Formats: sequence, C-alpha cells, structure tokens
Amino acid sequence: MQKINVITIDGPSASGKGALSKAIAKSSQFKLLDSGALYRLYAYLSNMNFKSNEIADQIKKNVIFELGNQDLSIKYLDNDVTDDLRSEIIAKTASDLSSRKEVRTSLYNIQRNFYDGSGLVADGRDMGTVIFKDAKLKVFLTASTEERAKRRYLELQNRGQEVNMRELIDDIKKRDLKDSSRELSPLFPAEDAHIIDSSNLSLKEVFSITENLIKKEFN
Ligand code: DC
Repeated sequence: MQKINVITIDGPSASGKGALSKAIAKSSQFKLLDSGALYRLYAYLSNMNFKSNEIADQIKKNVIFELGNQDLSIKYLDNDVTDDLRSEIIAKTASDLSSRKEVRTSLYNIQRNFYDGSGLVADGRDMGTVIFKDAKLKVFLTASTEERAKRRYLELQNRGQEVNMRELIDDIKKRDLKDSSRELSPLFPAEDAHIIDSSNLSLKEVFSITENLIKKEFN
C-alpha cells in the first residue's frame, strides 16, 4: 500500500490525544484534523432539525472549514460555530449519532479530503483503522481509566465545574464500552499502530516518544 504523509492519533476519551496531536502538528508544521469536530458539526445540524439526507447537503453548501496547524475552524452560514460545537449537549448528540452508518459514511469523504498531499495529523477514534489506513505513522494513545478520570477531573475543576470522581470513572467506563463495542468503526488500535500507554508518562514524554517515531517513519 502506498503510504501517505499522515500521522493518525487515535485513542479513548481523555487519553491526551488532543494535546499530543496539537504538539505534534506544531512541531512538524503539519495541518491538524480534529475529526471529533466533524461529528459535533453533524450533531449541531441534526439538533437544528435537519434530516440525515439534508445534512451532507448543508455541509457542502453552507459550511466553510479552515484547517490550520493548531485548529479546525468551522463556519456555518458565515457564523463561526467552532466554540458552539464544544458544548456538552452537542457532545452527547455526537456520541449518539457516531454509531450510525449514514453519519460515518457521509463524513468519510469529508475527512479524507482534508489530506491535500502535504502533512496532516489526524486525531480521532478510527483515523488509523478506517479513514487513513494508508497513514505513514499510526499512534494509539491510551491510559488507565483512573488516570483519565483524574485528568478530566482537573480539567473540569479548572473550568469551575462541580465534579464527582466516582461519576467521572463510571462515565469513562460507559463511554469506553460504547466506543469499543459499537458495530461500525469500533475503537481499537490498527494492527500497525504504535500503542503508547500514557498512565505514567507526562505529555512531554509522550511527545518525545512520538517525535522519535516520526523521525524513523518520515525519513
Ligand atoms: O473527540 P470528541 O469528543 O470531539 O468527539 C465527539 C464524538 O464523536 C465522540 O462521541 C466520539 C465521536 N467520534 C467518532 O466516533 N469518531 C471519530 N473519528 C471522532 C469522534
């Protein structure tokens, strides 16, 4: 298989893949595709009562994507909706919709088309197993449930939100089960992925391991 200049970073929620993807995109000057934002966009349009057969059309006609090396900004009808997509309501709808075939199918080409021949870091759940099977480097980042819950706890606390550690652990376990047991594009490492367990590693350490892999695969 002809390999393309893509680095896929997949993994469960709160594994640190967002932070790692940003750091890697910055150091390599690759564009950064946050594929979760596309599922959130789909959810946003679905919450506006567009039917699934209308959503692809809305995206084609009324959405403008701007892909940078630190973020993907999204405009709908000339309004920047990037921040609106981060809400918990949208996250919940996106999670429910992400197991549907028509949703994953209609987002397939959109994701694939972000690769323009120059370098791309693709952050998600199925980047290495489905969307960019032909990526030059695949990383699967994971961490123990407790460690991920701890990270999410600190993140939410910093945002001034009330959090309960027990509930966070239960939420993460439920989401893991849902993500890994769904029929379509379940969350699992690609056969040729490098699995990094970050339970006892700092972001800096994970970054350095990934940088070494990039040196090996891209030279
Ligand atoms: O990473 P995130 O929270 O922004 O993702 C939003 C939802 O989309 C989440 O429930 C998982 C889903 N998703 C997916 O199924 N496949 C991807 N490649 C990216 C996200």
